[in-house]
Amino acid sequence: MQKLALQWKRQGTRIGFVPTMGYLHEGHLSLVHRARKAVGARGQVVVSIYVNPTQFAPHEDLAKYPRDLDRDRKLCAEAGADCLFVPHDTDMYPAGQAAPYSTYVVEERLSQGLEGVSRPTHFRGVTTIVAKLFNLVLPEVAVFGAKDWQQAAVIQKMVADLNFPVEIIVAPTLREPDGLAMSSRNKYLSEAERRQALALHQALATAREQVRQAAEPLPAGRLRQQLRRQIEKNADARVDYVEFFDPVTLAPVRQVKLGDHLALAVRVGKTRLIDNGSLR
Ligand code: PAF
Repeated sequence: MQKLALQWKRQGTRIGFVPTMGYLHEGHLSLVHRARKAVGARGQVVVSIYVNPTQFAPHEDLAKYPRDLDRDRKLCAEAGADCLFVPHDTDMYPAGQAAPYSTYVVEERLSQGLEGVSRPTHFRGVTTIVAKLFNLVLPEVAVFGAKDWQQAAVIQKMVADLNFPVEIIVAPTLREPDGLAMSSRNKYLSEAERRQALALHQALATAREQVRQAAEPLPAGRLRQQLRRQIEKNADARVDYVEFFDPVTLAPVRQVKLGDHLALAVRVGKTRLIDNGSLR
């Protein structure tokens, strides 16, 4: 991959990159289109598919994470990607007594709250693999989805702090017609859970409505409680967090106003779903 990327670079070809864990849906394909728009018809758009073990905790869903490479390959081709990069674990994290893998990239501030509380080793895995992928694919532009808002912020910080010569584009979340944010993990939901999963989107709508109607900023604690109760009216839904914060610094806000951001993580049955949005 790196040799190919260097060859492209010598020819002056721009490289646009969409890192994924596969099991692609329309949301991913919208990132491919965004990458194409960024590098133009003569650029190379690379999609990587790699279910990165270092961003999963031992009790998480690494083994059962959905995979369908044949389908992904077709979807990438249809979306106009030029190159599919599908490394193996042995490529990315060589094992073995002599030289086991031992270098990690850690962002220490933005990665602490929100997802970082329940998933304390997650972002270390994400920043490490994204840094490695950037060094292999050598993109001018990389596109990430806004659905993983904190991930995009952490990666932007890593890129700034470590001087990666990569422009990060954050593309909007794609939703199903009823509002559920597209995610490969939606596949885990039973029919009844799928209905209850709408609670995330509904919580965002409620928060927006409240903030729009309020004459002054609203106490975050009270709004959090209200949303938690609303979500947990669904028998199988349990809130992990509901958090209001500044969209750039990710610092929690105590008084919620227009322009603040809401992110939430909810377990629906055994499936942990996340969503977020701007309160406007
Ligand atoms: O968002 C994802 O799918 C993953 O976290 C990423 C960015 C591909 C890194 O493994």
